[in-house]
Amino acid sequence: MTAFVVEGGTGPLRGRLRVPGDKSISHRALLLAALAEGQSRLSGLSNGDDVVATASAITAMGAHIEGNVVEGNVVLGGRSRLHEAERVVDVGNSGTAIRLLAGWCAALPWLTVLQGDASIGRRPMDRVAEPLRLMGATIDGREGGRLPPLVVRGGGLSGIDLDLTVPSAQVKGAVLLAGLAASGPTVVRERVPTRAHTEEMLAACGADIEVSADGLTTTLRPSPLRPFELDVPGDPSQAAFWLVGACLVPGSQVTVECVYVGPGRAAFLDVLRRMGADLEVEPTGPGVATVTARHSPELRGTTIGGDEVPGLIDELPVLAVAAAVADGPTEVCDAAELRFKESDRVASTVAMLAALGAACEPRPDGLLVPGNSRLTPGTVESAGDHRLAMAAAIAALVAPGPTQITGWNAVRTSYPNYEDHLHHLLNGDTP
Ligand code: S3P
Repeated sequence: MTAFVVEGGTGPLRGRLRVPGDKSISHRALLLAALAEGQSRLSGLSNGDDVVATASAITAMGAHIEGNVVEGNVVLGGRSRLHEAERVVDVGNSGTAIRLLAGWCAALPWLTVLQGDASIGRRPMDRVAEPLRLMGATIDGREGGRLPPLVVRGGGLSGIDLDLTVPSAQVKGAVLLAGLAASGPTVVRERVPTRAHTEEMLAACGADIEVSADGLTTTLRPSPLRPFELDVPGDPSQAAFWLVGACLVPGSQVTVECVYVGPGRAAFLDVLRRMGADLEVEPTGPGVATVTARHSPELRGTTIGGDEVPGLIDELPVLAVAAAVADGPTEVCDAAELRFKESDRVASTVAMLAALGAACEPRPDGLLVPGNSRLTPGTVESAGDHRLAMAAAIAALVAPGPTQITGWNAVRTSYPNYEDHLHHLLNGDTP
């Protein structure tokens, strides 16, 4: 068990930085490059263990990867190169990897066994197993395919018309990846929009895909993919830690360059603005922006719910930290999905704030954060959840004294250089 100690009250966060490449885009870039016939060039991929797990999975099934994760990779892919994995494929802690791979493997005519760590062993897989079975894949697992390990026997799929009842981009992505090799069209109908990476990236690889004007209905026809070049933009969910940190710590100003702010990912910026955060978003390209946050002494509580929730679900632990010190209550509703993340994030967020002296009430579908708390140092257990650990480190900055975060190694899954970046920002220089 690793621990990280943050000395709160030691000064502002100041500087400019780039955060790791977006994790959702990185997983998909690797999976699509492995299917595309020829060489794809990827740069700026996330350097976290989760994306490394996806890279290892496609390599185990015949894709060839050359180069360095961050500076650039050439992925040599194509269906004719791919083959059955000789061993069980281990996704580590990555829910996105196991769910997307379930769909990706369902399209391939052989057996794959997908397993992960203890946290993955508790995460619901029926949401992907059921639609993939409807398409014709054979999927098994513990509790009838509800829990990993998952055993996927793919091939011979037909398209489906799916009403997506769980607002999940992972499920949408898995079904679309399977649909690439199905006979006939695959239609995914969402009730609430979720992140649009799979659709955007499939279109960029030449797939026959259409998205309705409201973004809710995606129609994909079976398609070969062409290789592509992609420089993965920075992960907004990682930028959120520094932006919230800058709002909370007196004297701070942090600029995060090259942040993805496309569909389904930037809602946390709207929430921070509603709370009175001093933010500047300067677009620098399609779906990409430089975002600056400054200390915002008059944050106020807000209500977070409805259709905006899938677009900020990963940012809720750190938004709860902002809510704890804001003036007045913040209510988070329609967020029952929080309970199915790397930890039960309703319970783990309540416990993290309690350990630092702030009240926060669990709700079946969210949180009630009363606000107006003065944070005090303490010991926070990460619950094996990277986002919880990183949110706790931000809270600790405004709790004068040492806060110990145990289970800190969870951070490796998405942001191995978080500690370095924190030290640079506290020193006022640029990592
Ligand atoms: C992701 C979708 C979200 C998100 C996760 C990444 C993706 O999960 O929480 O971190 O890349 O598709 P759900 O699909 O379970 O909502």
